Amino acid sequence: MDGVTVIDHPLVQHKLTIMRKKETSTAGFRRLLREISMLLCYEVTRDLELTLETIETPLVEMQAPVVEGKKLVFVSILRAGNGLLEGMLELVPSARVSHIGLYRDHDTLQPVEYYFKAPEGLDERLIIVVDPMLATGNSSIAAIDKLKERGAKNIRFLCLLAAPEGIRNFQSAHPDVKVYTASIDSHLNEKGYIMPGLGDAGDRMYGTK
Ligand code: URA
Repeated sequence: MDGVTVIDHPLVQHKLTIMRKKETSTAGFRRLLREISMLLCYEVTRDLELTLETIETPLVEMQAPVVEGKKLVFVSILRAGNGLLEGMLELVPSARVSHIGLYRDHDTLQPVEYYFKAPEGLDERLIIVVDPMLATGNSSIAAIDKLKERGAKNIRFLCLLAAPEGIRNFQSAHPDVKVYTASIDSHLNEKGYIMPGLGDAGDRMYGTK
């Protein structure tokens, strides 16, 4: 699929399989999510710009490449996005963070916004929006609408699982936003769950069911 990168690294795929298993505990699910988010972060930041900094090794001065973490914003779509955010911040501790609260109305499946906080200067930063599940795509579309309204231009979307219907919906709303995922699953069921999926990501990571 154009505009979609499936991160098929064996470690990602192995960890994802364990996360999908219904018998995986809340603690295990959280630990795996933290680990897998670091691997996903590695891929989504693979082509980041580097700047040169003058440093001194014990032997000599040199120009060495560094990532400008402050130019990055990780956007967590609450609440499940926080699970991906944690591991990503371990890899890029200086990244700025935005939180967007959207819940999915269970009847209409449409997103309703209840929280938005983002740093200044979104137009000059690379924005990486994270949510483990790209299901209908409605929440991520709404989150990115809000970010674009505040000036964001350079945006990527990172998830763990995506449904083909969600990707199509997402890409027709935001064709400029590249999607990174560990898997494109089969389809959405009638309740809007990704099949075969892993269930409700928020419930699985926080043990709320
Ligand atoms: N959100 C989830 O947590 N799981 C799904 O399968 C779909 C949306």
